[in-house]
Amino acid sequence: MNKVKEILEKSLEKISNAASIEDIENIRIDFIGKKGLFTNELKKLRHLPANDRPLFGQEINKAKNVFLTNLSSAKNQLEGKLLVDSLNVKPIDISLAGSNSSKGSRHPISLVRSKIEQIFKSSGYKIKIGPEIEDDYHNFTALNVPENHPARAMHDTFYFEGKKLLRTHTSPVQIRSMIADGAPIRIIAPGKCYRCDSDQTHTPMFHQVEGLVIDENISFANLKAVLHEFVESFFEREIKLRFRPSYFPFTEPSAEVDILWENDEWLEILGCGMVHPNVLTNSGIDPEKYSGYAFGMGVERLAMLYYGVRDLRTFYDNDVNFLKQFS
Ligand code: DAH
Repeated sequence: MNKVKEILEKSLEKISNAASIEDIENIRIDFIGKKGLFTNELKKLRHLPANDRPLFGQEINKAKNVFLTNLSSAKNQLEGKLLVDSLNVKPIDISLAGSNSSKGSRHPISLVRSKIEQIFKSSGYKIKIGPEIEDDYHNFTALNVPENHPARAMHDTFYFEGKKLLRTHTSPVQIRSMIADGAPIRIIAPGKCYRCDSDQTHTPMFHQVEGLVIDENISFANLKAVLHEFVESFFEREIKLRFRPSYFPFTEPSAEVDILWENDEWLEILGCGMVHPNVLTNSGIDPEKYSGYAFGMGVERLAMLYYGVRDLRTFYDNDVNFLKQFS
């Protein structure tokens, strides 16, 4: 019994001197490990007369429990101290200013698209959105571009299986709008278009804004007036326009519109024309009763002129320093 008491006292003294978690672990091994002092006492039990064993066993276990309680509280204290020490080494200065996360900004193409939408909305145009995955019928056939028509070659089309494709222009929204709503119509259709093409002025994905007005007595003069007003609202100054005769299968007559730029250069900005009677008929509108005009402009093209950007591809490089300029 005295021996057990002695071992307990010795162990408690060691615990009170422990200075690290490692010390604690060593003490544990020394006293209750396989060859520990308490363990040895327990082993000796079997040499005692059977009657004495329970009493001695209980005493040893009691001492062992006192040891364990002390050991674990010493361990807790040490861990707490370690934590405080580590916090003191690198104190947190809660008065320091936080790091600001910088605000994002809208992409220049989105800004220009919004500006275009705003101008037309204020003249009573509704916005119509069509699918980017189109079918051959809406993208070409209904627009008076039958199969094997050479005009199909003007578009480097991305095809899927089964006559599906990525729309090469926003003009198919004309067809969808006429079929869905009938005349009269006054819409613009902004959105993404795709062509297998890439250089300084072309990216495989680009944006257009389509315009379509169908009503009785719509004339080319109306088209000219609307586009002139649009261009001057967009660039916020007086601008000379030139309507250059051109060809599009879905309009007749057709024109390309140039603007007289600062360096006295004529720059093309859009295509337009009077909606071809075949296109009206294909969409269930009576060409004897209704006429209309349509136009399609490249958003990137307008953005390049508006912001003075020379290479269209920079819009899609995701260079934050470039994009920051538009915030
Ligand atoms: N869809 C033509 C293109 O992508 C642009 C265009 C021309 C649209 C004349 C029109 C139009 O609505 O009338 O090249």
